[in-house]
This record gives sequence, C-alpha cells and structure tokens, in this order.
Amino acid sequence: MRSPDLALLRQLSANSEIYRDPLAHIDWHALDCSGFWLPEPALSLYGLAEYATLSADVKRRLSHYEFVNVMCCGLWLERAFLQRVSRRLDAQLPRVEYEFFLHELREEAGHSLMFLKAIRASGLALPEDAWQAPRLANWLARHALAAGAAFWLAMVIGEDVPDKFNRYVRSEPAAVHPTIAQICTLHVIDEARHIAAARSRLEAALRQRPGWRRAALTPVMNLLLRQIVEVFYLPPARFYELAGLTHGRWWRAMAANNATHRHFVAQQLAPTLRMLEGYGLKPKL
Ligand SMILES: [Fe+2]
Ligand SMILES: [Fe+2]
Repeated sequence: MRSPDLALLRQLSANSEIYRDPLAHIDWHALDCSGFWLPEPALSLYGLAEYATLSADVKRRLSHYEFVNVMCCGLWLERAFLQRVSRRLDAQLPRVEYEFFLHELREEAGHSLMFLKAIRASGLALPEDAWQAPRLANWLARHALAAGAAFWLAMVIGEDVPDKFNRYVRSEPAAVHPTIAQICTLHVIDEARHIAAARSRLEAALRQRPGWRRAALTPVMNLLLRQIVEVFYLPPARFYELAGLTHGRWWRAMAANNATHRHFVAQQLAPTLRMLEGYGLKPKL
C-alpha cells in the first residue's frame, strides 16, 4: 500500500496537540429540553401538512429525539472507527502515522463520551434497544473492508455525511439550543482534520487503481452511502413514539416519503456526492 502523506499527518497532529476535551469544554449545565435541538427545517416531518398540526411540545421533543438519533449514529460509526483504527496500531508503522492515529482515537473517544453525556444530561428516555445499526453497513464497517481504497472510502463517507449536517446545524445558531451548537462545533473542528487525513489516504489509494478497479468500488460505496444516509436522516419508528406520537411506523413512513425532507437531505449531501464524483466514482442514492 502506498505510504501516507507524512508531512500532512505531522501538521494535523500538531494541530491536535491542544486537546479540547468535550466533557470539560461543553456547557453541560445549560443543556435542557426547553428549546429546539435542531432547526425545524431539519426535522424529518417538516413540510408535511400533518407536521403543522402537531403541538409545539411534540415538535420540540421530536427535535430532541432526531438529534439523539444523530448521536446514536455517531456512536455507531465511531465505535467501528475506534475498533478498526486501534487494530491498525503497530510498531512497524511510521512514528508520524502512529502518532496521528493516537490523536484520532483520543478525539473520537472524546466525541463518543460527549454523545453519551448529552444523552444522559438530557434526561430523555432511551431504552437500550431503541436504536440499531443497519445490519449490512455494520458488517461492512466492522469486517469486510480491509486496508486500501475501500477502507478509506468508508472512512470518508462515514465522516463526511455527519460533518455536513453538523455544519448546517452550526450555521443556524438562533434555531438550536446553544449546547447542541457547541457539540456540533467541537465535532466539526476535530473532524476537519480527520477528513483531511482520510481523503489524502483515499486519493493515494485511488491513484494506484486503474479505472476498472475504481468502478468495482461503486456498488459497495453506494450501499454504504444509502444505509448511512437512511439511518442518519430517518430515525427509528420507536423515536417518533418516544417523542409523543402514536403509531411510530406510520410517522416514519410519512417521513420517508416527505418530499421536503428529501430535498433537505439532498442539499446536505450535495458536497459529499460532488467530492466522490471528483474522484471518478459514481455515487447514487
Ligand atoms: Fe467523531
Ligand atoms: Fe473523525
């Protein structure tokens, strides 16, 4: 496998040296459920006639659970990342790469601790089995993708999709709880370094692949992309019920067919799809 860009990793590690521990830096005491946790246009039911009939309390509670869903996705993706990257730690690695991996592991562990603390601090009910990772993507994330282009492609997708959403939330500070905006900001700052590193590794791996081998990545890429996007932007039926709506399955089906939400999701994904197209790949949802 082509060696990593050590100058880039050295620079990224230097930028990570002053560690911002989310548990110490975030204003946890301020976190409560009195306001919206997401801007309303981000909600999966927004735009439907039925949404307009919901009480302000239910709309707010839905925003809490839709952000809890985002955090559950984060915990899942970060768990897969922590497992895969920790297995790559090896005495044979260039020291610069080894050091960068340790920074990434520290930062991702911090994000997962941040999500767990936010869920606990919110006081929101979240039964242990309320959220489940999509099976095929979960298997792929844990086992199927070894090192090389497929591994780095999965990393880029798993980091870029949530990152674009976090950037959107940050861009609407008046519409979200300040602690939630802080959580998204802290994540975006760390993720910029992780994405830069993963993209550089992906680019190096793709340069070594002839066109037909690049094309062979497309089915796995699209499967992963579809499953991550679905689970990220469409909460489980149970979450609608936890938010105070009856018949969660019905509301989830309504959300899945909500043209306003589909348009919102397409807008958030556009930069990720453009980036993948720029690599000569053919992303399709
Ligand atoms: Fe993260
Ligand atoms: Fe990351």
